[in-house]
Amino acid sequence: MKRQIVEVKNVLRTLDMFANLQSRSDITPGIGLIHGPSGFGKTSTVTHMVNQLTNMGSVPAFVRCCATDTPSSFLARVTKELGSDPIYPLRKSLDYIIETMNEQQIALFVDEADHIVGQSKTMETIRDIYDATELPVLLVGMEEIARRISHRKQLFNRISEWVEFLPADNEDVSMFASELMEVDVKVGEDMLDYIRVRSGGEVRRTLIALDKIERFAISNDLDFVDRAVWGDGQLFLNNSRR
Ligand SMILES: Nc1ncnc2c1ncn2[C@@H]1O[C@H](COP(=O)(O)OP(=O)(O)OP(=O)(O)O)[C@@H](O)[C@H]1O
Ligand SMILES: [Mg+2]
Repeated sequence: MKRQIVEVKNVLRTLDMFANLQSRSDITPGIGLIHGPSGFGKTSTVTHMVNQLTNMGSVPAFVRCCATDTPSSFLARVTKELGSDPIYPLRKSLDYIIETMNEQQIALFVDEADHIVGQSKTMETIRDIYDATELPVLLVGMEEIARRISHRKQLFNRISEWVEFLPADNEDVSMFASELMEVDVKVGEDMLDYIRVRSGGEVRRTLIALDKIERFAISNDLDFVDRAVWGDGQLFLNNSRR
């Protein structure tokens, strides 16, 4: 399987959403939210967007939160991403972040924001960064994040754009198959539909299944695999066969 991003609907919706944040009017706040279940492609999509923006010369600061994050470790990570060693006290670190983002017009992307959404101080710091720069801030997290942020009114009211990652549909699964398989193998419609249903539309599990099909096609010298050709081999890890 090739390692490249397929521009399926969730990806296109995210690119549109960020373009809207960048071109918003003065009265519209600039915090965006991406949320959805694990394995649906949130991190890959944001990384893809970071690469695109970097190629266009506007490199965003991209940080990934950890379960052990504190306000201090979060600020240290953003500071490092912006090119500096940790700065203390935290107030100075915040000043450095704001100054650098303003000077270089840098947007801030925060992945795995679930880990910090319960921390008032870190979330208020993100709001401080936004208020002092008015540059796009993109928060990325799992399903629950939207509900949890909604309790933080001051931050929530600054969210003007959001994308909920939806399960892959048949067209998306078909694009993954045709764009990611290295060998020229066609996957039958019934198989694509089966993958979509059994994966629950999760990209991670979809790609694992397609990888198995590709290997199967290579080792059996096949250019077409549908459910009849696949037979009763196990395609998904769970308690039922096939
Ligand atoms: N649009 C895409 N094109 C190609 N591969 C993709 C795409 N989206 C996701 N993937 C692949 O699917 C897997 C899961 O994606 P990713 O890690 O981005 O999901 P996630 O939503 O961030 O999950 P988590 O919530 O667990 O962090 C990755 O291995 C990635 O390579
Ligand atoms: Mg992720």
